[in-house]
Amino acid sequence: MIITHLSAECYPIAKVGGLADVLGALPKYQNELGATSQVVMPFYKNKYTQSHCFEAVYNDTILLGETDYDFRILKLKDHENDLGFDIFFVDVPELLYTDFVYTTDDTERFLAFQIAALDWIAQGDVIPDVIHCHDHHTGLVPFMMQESFRYSMLRKVPVAFTIHNAQYQGWFSHDLVYLIPEFKFSHVGLLDWNHSINPLAAAIKCSWIVTTVSPNYMDELKLSANGLESLLSDEHAKCIGILNGIDTEVWNTETDPLIIENFTQDTIESGKLKNKEWLCKEFNLDINRPLFAFIGRLVEQKGADLFPKIFSESLFGNDISILLLGSGEKHTENDLINLKEKFPDKYNAYIGYDEKLSHIIYAGADFLLMPSRVEPCGLNQMYALRYGTIPIVNNVGGLKDTVEDLYDGGFGICHNGVTVSEVCEAIERASEFYDSDIFKQTRAEVMSIDHSWHASAQSYLNVYNSLNPFL
Ligand code: ADP
Ligand code: GLC
Repeated sequence: MIITHLSAECYPIAKVGGLADVLGALPKYQNELGATSQVVMPFYKNKYTQSHCFEAVYNDTILLGETDYDFRILKLKDHENDLGFDIFFVDVPELLYTDFVYTTDDTERFLAFQIAALDWIAQGDVIPDVIHCHDHHTGLVPFMMQESFRYSMLRKVPVAFTIHNAQYQGWFSHDLVYLIPEFKFSHVGLLDWNHSINPLAAAIKCSWIVTTVSPNYMDELKLSANGLESLLSDEHAKCIGILNGIDTEVWNTETDPLIIENFTQDTIESGKLKNKEWLCKEFNLDINRPLFAFIGRLVEQKGADLFPKIFSESLFGNDISILLLGSGEKHTENDLINLKEKFPDKYNAYIGYDEKLSHIIYAGADFLLMPSRVEPCGLNQMYALRYGTIPIVNNVGGLKDTVEDLYDGGFGICHNGVTVSEVCEAIERASEFYDSDIFKQTRAEVMSIDHSWHASAQSYLNVYNSLNPFL
């Protein structure tokens, strides 16, 4: 079975969040199960693309409205590829070769990506058995495969679509409809949602199957999906929630080259201590206090707007330290930087993106905070568990599917709702837990919870098979 994934991100080539981690792992695990799974993504200007070798496998021109753009399809050279799957790049130098994955004029950029990718796939000798699109940046592909005359040869190819985050829908004005390769205009309604062209809505309408990244998030979306709930709750809608996994080869405390000291379940206490020592020294925190950490995008979804208040209140009343790694909304970043003055030896923040530091924090922290208002799956809590760090989570989305509260015989701290008092109470519960007899045993035990991709990679193959039993 040949599966072609289309995505804006893929680890380690270009990563903004968990989407990249999923694309960097799922195809590898699908290949281990006997499939031929590959990824197609844009060719950005970054460290990875500048330090690896690629071969051009296709050249052509796309017409976007009235403008012609030359493009190439590049393939990462086999001798440089240790990803576990083939990866192809859509290189439209004028639009996609940017320093950042996302910019302010993404409509044209990602349309160019989708059209060039489909042009190449449609003209290839081997058409994939399944095309699997991820998030709104690839949301017009199912529509174009079904409706655009240019791609009529792809009409019978099953197309799956995964919603990683329904908050981002990629909508744009109908004035730009002329950018989409020609289709029967009476079908324009398939593109529309509330008088805009909405790629996420179009993908839900036109895909053969829609998946989300956890079962609970799918249940939530059926009730509320940023205006798209009726599309998903329709009894005829083909929807399924499949829990993300984590790449246990990358996220392995025994071999992780990015952490200060490797460790196993048996050496967890000394191993975590070495990583915590490094963090405390680097960030001027007292090693004797329990260390709470946050890693992620500083946006409302993650509860970040409340962090200044939550941190102030918790640090004031408790003998704890907090370390934050993230970037996002500027006013939140500023508030979080200013907080350093108030708690010089109890709190620190690194504003920015740093993959290595994130690994050391998962390894060295005692607790990981995830007070997300919405969390389609969340990978951080699974990385934390694998690194012996106890997650403190709001009971939503994939967090609910992966973290069980101590009160219910589980191993984490769950709170219901994201308010300053809910989160502060959860932090206090965690501090008490830190001082208890079972803390060390619990954190060693959580390291062996199985969140690997094996089961979920198979679930995706089963989904593809349900679309075409002859695969
Ligand atoms: P989301 O995709 O919504 O941002 P996930 O929990 O699915 O959330 O995945 C986030 C991923 O991005 C994790 O791999 C996390 O470690 C990583 N990450 C987020 N922010 C940073 C940062 N500032 N530095 C390093 N890694 C980060
Ligand atoms: C999105 C979601 C996150 C999920 C990730 C990977 O970015 O916000 O919850 O884990 O995609 O599917």
